[in-house]
Amino acid sequence: MLQKNPVLGTGEVEETRQGEAYLPFANDPNRYSKKFYIESYGCQMNFSDSEIVASILNEEGFGATGNFMDADLVLLNTCSIREKAEQTVRNRLQVFRKIKDNKPGMLVGVLGCMAERLKAKFLEEEKLVDMVVGPDAYRSLPGLIMEAETGQKSVNVLLSRDETYADISPVRLDSNGVSAFVTIMRGCNNMCTFCVVPFTRGRERSRDKDSIIKECTDLFDRGFREVTLLGQNVDSYYFTEDNGENIDFAQLLASVAEISPLLRVRFSTSHPKDITDDVLHTMARYHNICKYIHLPVQSGNTRILNLMNRTYTREWYLNKVKRIREIMPDCGLSTDVISGFCTETEEDHMDTLSVMEQSRFDMAYMFSYSERPGTLAARRYTDDIPEEVKKRRLIEIINLQNSLSRVSYKNDIDKSFEVLIEGNSKKKETDWVGRNSQNKVVVFPKNGLDLKKGDYVQVKITSATSATLLGQIN
Ligand code: SAH
Ligand code: SF4
Ligand code: F3S
Repeated sequence: MLQKNPVLGTGEVEETRQGEAYLPFANDPNRYSKKFYIESYGCQMNFSDSEIVASILNEEGFGATGNFMDADLVLLNTCSIREKAEQTVRNRLQVFRKIKDNKPGMLVGVLGCMAERLKAKFLEEEKLVDMVVGPDAYRSLPGLIMEAETGQKSVNVLLSRDETYADISPVRLDSNGVSAFVTIMRGCNNMCTFCVVPFTRGRERSRDKDSIIKECTDLFDRGFREVTLLGQNVDSYYFTEDNGENIDFAQLLASVAEISPLLRVRFSTSHPKDITDDVLHTMARYHNICKYIHLPVQSGNTRILNLMNRTYTREWYLNKVKRIREIMPDCGLSTDVISGFCTETEEDHMDTLSVMEQSRFDMAYMFSYSERPGTLAARRYTDDIPEEVKKRRLIEIINLQNSLSRVSYKNDIDKSFEVLIEGNSKKKETDWVGRNSQNKVVVFPKNGLDLKKGDYVQVKITSATSATLLGQIN
């Protein structure tokens, strides 16, 4: 889940992916009698959920505001993936505590994974919080707000086996009008031992295919040119239609790609154990399915992978990478890596470095292990790697990835790519910024040509940093 997208914003290397980024937004506040303000933390799934929450609140007469001082209702959509992500939210709550002292009528609600993990305990720990709402309970927000308005604390953290919010049309927040996220499934059944997501998001369930196609078609009709299909493990998408037909991820991808050759399709995240040749061949068959896969490796050592319950070995992972490159030689590849998982030795760590070198990742999100209460690892293993060792290994991982990225981006010099224009470059109004199919950011001068956001243009690369390609229209 993984590009530096306009919603997640940018951050330090360790934080770009999940946990720390937030961006408030504004959305036509004058049409509504009350105002809400929402900040989102964590993965794209959370940002996508905030768009569902916005839709539910709009129906209730709440309009969005980008200024929390104007808000009747302040919501934080939270993340629990690492301790630091939770700490960021707690710090933020301190800010709202001060504001609430002068604005006693303002309600503060905590949504998302931290709400689910801490449940009613949140109300004891953070006295200013009025509402605690888990990721499957957003439909109950109107009732919970009414309850909170009467001065009661309200909580709904029930997880569901079938909630997919399929019928709710998300309100696109802080959108560039070109790319959008579309959630295709919720929850996760994988139980990686380090991970809190199965506990905060519940069982895996896939969303009705027709509702996905409808949402993507609507987006295309409104001028969007790129959809990213979201799920914790998209390759296990599986939906049975009313006529008994079973749809897997490869079939879903093909159906979305067929909406229009001008609609780019991306997806995230793929689990190495589940991505099939069928998906790879489908990607290769459609020009508009982007040639980019985010394939988290986590560790390059089979013993550690086993302790993590990732259910693949180092060799299996490397074979998967080989297969991807056989079927799509030009495919972009990124990953997630964790340093210092329980019992990790220096040799195990070297295996992680060598798997990165052999896979030649274009980009990576890199973390040091953070024990999460309640996870299988917290219950079964000792978090025995000292913090400074975790950090030192993380720095080695980051340094290696920086050099791999530099090589990958330098190799693109003199190549020509089809780029989807996303908008003005932040640095220079006279430059466009967009992405190629491989998800690399490309910046190039407008050259006075009559182009606009959402157009495709062929760009020849002339120079590169380790995170951006620079070029000229050709
Ligand atoms: N379902 C997705 C994303 C899950 S969370 C997937 O499987 O890829 C995103 C990343 O956060 C994970 O891939 C992992 O690298 C990292 N992560 C998860 N739990 C963590 C923990 N306890 N400590 C450090 N990093 C963690
Ligand atoms: Fe967490 Fe593993 Fe599920 Fe990803 S696949 S969300 S890492 S349990
Ligand atoms: Fe964080 Fe929850 Fe996403 S824990 S990474 S917001 S699924």
